[in-house]
Amino acid sequence: MNNKIRKPLVAGNWKMNGNNELVRDFVKCLEKTSDVDVVICPPSCYLTAFEQAQFSLGAQNVSSFTSGAHTGELSTSMLKECKVSYVIVGHSERRENHGEANDIVASKVKAVIEAGLVPILCVGEPLEVRESGQVFDFVKAQLDAVASVCSNTYIELAVIAYEPIWAIGTGKTASPEQAQEVHAFIRKELAQLNASAAQSIRLLYGGSVNASNANELFAQNDIDGGLIGGASLKIEDFTAICQAAS
Ligand code: 13P
Repeated sequence: MNNKIRKPLVAGNWKMNGNNELVRDFVKCLEKTSDVDVVICPPSCYLTAFEQAQFSLGAQNVSSFTSGAHTGELSTSMLKECKVSYVIVGHSERRENHGEANDIVASKVKAVIEAGLVPILCVGEPLEVRESGQVFDFVKAQLDAVASVCSNTYIELAVIAYEPIWAIGTGKTASPEQAQEVHAFIRKELAQLNASAAQSIRLLYGGSVNASNANELFAQNDIDGGLIGGASLKIEDFTAICQAAS
């Protein structure tokens, strides 16, 4: 993957896992890698516990509003005060379980970019869409919704993660060829909006990435790293995945 022009990025999405001890272990033991951008996205209550970490911090969600009566939500300015640089937006678990439709996801991407943070925009299809051969249409609709709200410049400022829902937490990884095919499609779609930015935007694969399959996935032309769930909770596994990206 070193022959690519894009610097690899590996982000760990802890989801609703972890505790103070895991935070301490990561701060102490996760080594700095100069040739890979590493991001940890813990539950928001741990964000401020990561002082002096060797890696960047990401949030798992954000409000599109700046302040006000939004119980349980966090604004971009609050995340910035917690030294967050990246925000996962539109994860399938939020789309499915928290009613985040494409338009809400788009407004969040806009808010994140306007705040000077980097959105990690998640896209990806459920199993029935893959089985019906509609993957490209489904992903295109997710991308189009964001482009219609954010203008084409969002491509220069975002990271996009392709996470097929059927591969998340199932141990059923997309094959490198399946993943590459969709990544190439995403880059081609983005190129129609902004050709040069499409070459520099980083596209991550997510869905049951582990220390054994990371090498082959990251070796694909249009895969620039990963968004890692379960395997980001174990330092040895996560370290091996980061090394696979370097
Ligand atoms: P797993 O790596 O556990 O499949 O999760 C992927 C994911 O949803 C990362 O955001």
